[in-house]
Amino acid sequence: MKKEIQRFHGGLRGEISIPGDKSISHRSVMFSALGDAPVRITNFLHAQDCLSTVACVKALGAEVEFLSDTELIVTGHGLHGLKEPEGILDAGNSGTTLRLLMGVLAPQSFLTTFTGDASLCRRPMARVIKPLSLMGARIVGRGGNRFLPITVAPAEKKLSGMVYDMPVASAQVKSAILLAGMYAEGETTVVEPFASRDHTERMLEAFGVRTQKKGFAVTIHPVEELHPPKEIEVPGDISSAAYWLVAASVIPGSDILLPNVGVNPTRTGILDVLKDMGADFELLHQRTSGGEAAADIRVRSSKLHGTSLGAEIMPRLIDEIPILAVAALFAEGDTVVTGAGELRVKETDRLQAVTNEFNKLSPGSVEAAGDGMVIHGGCPVKKAEVISYDDHRMAMSLAILGAAGNGVLLGNPECVHISYPEFYDILDGFWEEKR
Ligand code: S3P
Repeated sequence: MKKEIQRFHGGLRGEISIPGDKSISHRSVMFSALGDAPVRITNFLHAQDCLSTVACVKALGAEVEFLSDTELIVTGHGLHGLKEPEGILDAGNSGTTLRLLMGVLAPQSFLTTFTGDASLCRRPMARVIKPLSLMGARIVGRGGNRFLPITVAPAEKKLSGMVYDMPVASAQVKSAILLAGMYAEGETTVVEPFASRDHTERMLEAFGVRTQKKGFAVTIHPVEELHPPKEIEVPGDISSAAYWLVAASVIPGSDILLPNVGVNPTRTGILDVLKDMGADFELLHQRTSGGEAAADIRVRSSKLHGTSLGAEIMPRLIDEIPILAVAALFAEGDTVVTGAGELRVKETDRLQAVTNEFNKLSPGSVEAAGDGMVIHGGCPVKKAEVISYDDHRMAMSLAILGAAGNGVLLGNPECVHISYPEFYDILDGFWEEKR
């Protein structure tokens, strides 16, 4: 299937409700499955990745009742109440499902085997298998313990706590180690080169588990049981809001309001960079809900200019690089991205994908350089056929590029169901309003 997106004439105006945060939705379901009382989750992200987590926790014995698409009740049987699944667990396209659950399952007394889709089968898993094995976990995977399929077998004895220096900042790896650390003997400390998103630490706190943070190090102590909150309200996903933040910034005459967006400081790198580029937005009604900061964001079009961003800010905006590249293309001057090697191991190699597809729409606009790229802002943009690489964030970024540029014919557009199933309806809705 291909989707045609026309150039959008005139500004985007109105209010766009943003779906629930993907990272927080995953964790809300997983942690509730380890509690011993029902947890009502609201504004849950009803998209394929989070539904993969739901399917896995059900197979592991938790009860899940959907009250609507975005509201569900998850009831676990306690920290030691998971049961051996009857079949192979399928994490689909979701690295978060797989990597966090490996941490939960490493200390269990039963065997679990995981698989996933073609993209997840290519993604590196040694980064989780290695530290968990150092704690005493028994995990084997294809290609010398590096890839799916992966089997997590019962450990010979209780896992041991440790201090682990992570070579790259990754919330998924950090979370897997902390979750395994709850079941370990002694304390477990994870040290990152830069701070990654801290949703695990915040949500564990809501479940009565304290972690200690010191610089880029997080420590967890053995945990007897979780004390689940009655309710978790998931804020809107800033990674999904990012498409509209950039679209409204670069399409002249735009003025949109994005209510209830999560603005946890470990996720707001996109706001810092857009501000630096001259974007015109403001955070309204700033509040805290369930330990997470949220705000309404009003964004208006403005003239952007190029900037540079490097390794330190990368974990705070890692998923937003493709859409930031769109902002950079419509900005004046060059934008230089460095320290972004992690983009090569996302749902696709996003440095390569951005370079290939942007250059089809705007020849000569992007040069890949080592672990980064240079985007030459202001290069002419034409209509062209591009592909999504079955990567949801590439598909949405290319759709916005087409809407802001001169249109695009997008191959494999369906992958937006991974994180934002309503994305095209919203985009098409702006067209309907114009008619
Ligand atoms: C996530 C962490 C990030 C991010 C992913 C979600 C999480 O991955 O890219 O979309 O929920 O912990 P890494 O931990 O690999 O950086």
